[in-house]
Formats: sequence, C-alpha cells, structure tokens
Amino acid sequence: MPSYSALPVPPMSIRFDPAGGTLQPEGPTLTRRMSDLDGLFRDHAAWEQAVADGDPVVYSVVSSRVPEVERELPQSITTIQPGATAGELWMTKGHQHPNHQGEIYLGISGHGGLLLFNGTETEWVDMTPGTIGYMPPGWAHRSINVGDEPYSFLAVYPGGAGHDYGWVLEHGMGRRVLSGASGVEFVDYDAS
Ligand SMILES: [Fe+2]
Repeated sequence: MPSYSALPVPPMSIRFDPAGGTLQPEGPTLTRRMSDLDGLFRDHAAWEQAVADGDPVVYSVVSSRVPEVERELPQSITTIQPGATAGELWMTKGHQHPNHQGEIYLGISGHGGLLLFNGTETEWVDMTPGTIGYMPPGWAHRSINVGDEPYSFLAVYPGGAGHDYGWVLEHGMGRRVLSGASGVEFVDYDAS
C-alpha cells in the first residue's frame, strides 16, 4: 500500500495524469463514500436513501508521498464524481485549517467550484482546467462538481495546516450549491 515518504524527503519529480487523476509516485489514497458524508447534505432522508442504494463513492483523494508535517508542502489530487442528492451537487466534506494557513487548488479536468466561507462571508470560485483557486488563511473550503463528468483538481497546502471537518458541521458553509433548471443555484445553508 502506498505511503508517505520518510523524513527527510528528497527532491523529487511527481507526474500527474490529468485524465486519470493520479500521481506518480503515489502516496496514500482516501476514498469518501456517501456514508462518510453524514450530516452534510440538506436532505437527510435522501442521504440515507443514497447510502442504502449502494453507498456510492462521492470522491477520492490521491496524495503524493510528501507527508503532512510542518514545513513540507504536500500535494493531492481530488476527484469528485458527478451527481446530486435531492438536488444538492456532490461535494467534498469541506474543512477549515485549524492554524489558518492558505492553500491553492489547480483545476485539471471537468468543471467544479470552490465554496469558501469565513464564518460571515461566502465566496465562489468557478474552477475549470487551468484555474488556480486561492484560499486565504481563515477561509473554510469545500469543492463541488457542477458538471456531468468527474471533476479533478490538484491541491498544494502547508503540511502543518491540518483538516478540521468539525468546523463545517458546527458553522456550515454559508451557502449550499444545487443543480437548478438553468444551472448552478445557491441557497442559504439552512434553507430547506
Ligand atoms: Fe485545505
């Protein structure tokens, strides 16, 4: 099973395959199924039904071998499958960095978006191949697939940033992203 490099990490070349969403050499892979997204979809009954109906993979994260430790700069490729549950487009869990550090995403295939929330304001960055989305320190972030094919992006982040998923469960993301008749629609996080 692929793993992170031992310290110190040597200089290295890392190839990424835009079509396959893979890194070579590859580190650990994380797979998030619908059942891993408890408490995140607006329609809880629809979420339960989706879990019962095969518990599909919603997204996967392939990491490079650079470890998540202070002063290192790890990378990963996330691929979100296309889909919606009760109209809410498939998405990552979303997280805040406990130490409020910045991060960049680079869109590499498909069409997605980056939802950012600082506890008061919400921002949306449309993500297509070649777009760099910048997350300033203190902005929680979630990615959403708004297209009909898998959406993949490369993330580069401070190794000591951490991932606080509980922050989103407590504070929400300001808005929800739905599939509307004329495209993407935004509603207040608590709207039903
Ligand atoms: Fe992050």
